[in-house]
Amino acid sequence: MVVAKVEPREEVSKSVALRTERAVIKVGFDFGTNTSVIVASEGGKELELKQDLALSVVGYPKPGVLPGILPRGKKLLFGEEAIQHRLHLNLKWPMIKGVVTDIEPSKDFMSYIRTIIDPDGAKEIWAVIGCPANAPAEKCHELRAAVACAFSKILIVPEPFLAAMGFRDESRLDDPSYIDPTRNSLFVDIGAGTTDFCMVQGFYPTAHEQSSMHKAGNDIDAGIAAAIRRKYPDWAVTPIRVTRLKEQYSFVGEAPERIVVTELVGGKPRHLDITAEIRNGCEVILDDIVKHIEELAARCDTDAVETLLNNIILTGGGSLIRGICEGVQARLHAKGYTTARVRRVDDYKRLVAKGALKTGKAVRDDQWQIPV
Ligand SMILES: Nc1ncnc2c1ncn2[C@@H]1O[C@H](COP(=O)(O)OP(=O)(O)OP(=O)(O)O)[C@@H](O)[C@H]1O
Ligand SMILES: [Mg+2]
Repeated sequence: MVVAKVEPREEVSKSVALRTERAVIKVGFDFGTNTSVIVASEGGKELELKQDLALSVVGYPKPGVLPGILPRGKKLLFGEEAIQHRLHLNLKWPMIKGVVTDIEPSKDFMSYIRTIIDPDGAKEIWAVIGCPANAPAEKCHELRAAVACAFSKILIVPEPFLAAMGFRDESRLDDPSYIDPTRNSLFVDIGAGTTDFCMVQGFYPTAHEQSSMHKAGNDIDAGIAAAIRRKYPDWAVTPIRVTRLKEQYSFVGEAPERIVVTELVGGKPRHLDITAEIRNGCEVILDDIVKHIEELAARCDTDAVETLLNNIILTGGGSLIRGICEGVQARLHAKGYTTARVRRVDDYKRLVAKGALKTGKAVRDDQWQIPV
């Protein structure tokens, strides 16, 4: 029998606080439709993880795969390794349109994320997790259920707000020439599943200051794939190949070059021009982005709107499309918002997770929530 050592109440709370301090890893987690990102810290010091990015995909072996075909006889493969072995796997992407749609693969994926953060499974992990702007309550509930196996406490915060937090350079806040992105700007996060919009004006954003559209990278891919199949019906292009081609050549507006790729068609190499297909596919999101910006601008205080439109900041993988800032800006100018200025962030990949960790460090212990 274990006899508990009795300590005065104050001592107990002090020792619990110390134990919590030591054992808790705080994490900023961006659970992306396409890519998930982890930033972690323990005792205030950032942790060096063996990897901080993972494609959000789980591979389950197809029935009848011979022993030794999959690496190290694995039953489950994750991320890039799952993509590499896709011929022998059923791939499941846990997130569709920025929300958890398939709970079992989500749990498997989250167990994998846990092993990246804490390989021995000995620590407690508290995570701030990004979600799409204005995600419905039932979707947040599913997200909680999915992450409960990995994190003992969580906070769910809109992604574009976290992106703004991640983009903020605290070391320059006293520099008069520095424009603090959390003071008055409009963040547009163009992901794989959703494009999210958020006015960040020095406060935690309300529903009124955010919007989201279900048109993003995956829809661009679907449009490009359909156009390629129409133009080259003999080319059996796979969805993954289309995504890779888009990521290599994406552009809107004037073509920077002709895009001619050499692909195997019926086993023979052929040179195929996909310039128009890439452009038309990428342009499909432009008008809707402008519409959402206009709607948010209309909700903004008239004293603040000019500065807001001067600070439109694109982030997410879609912000890498060549010419997208110019394309959105030109459309806004054509609609009369002549002072609008659109730019992109430098390194979009880790912004949401970085902002999430900053948020996690700033909140009090009693503000964290138990996932389910
Ligand atoms: N150079 C590029 N040009 C165009 N699109 C790109 C480029 N690089 C990445 N992408 C696209 O960006 C998307 C991934 O972006 P990101 O990692 O921000 O999404 P996510 O966070 O996983 O998705 P979501 O936020 O919707 O859950 C994918 O559709 C990817 O193909
Ligand atoms: Mg994202």
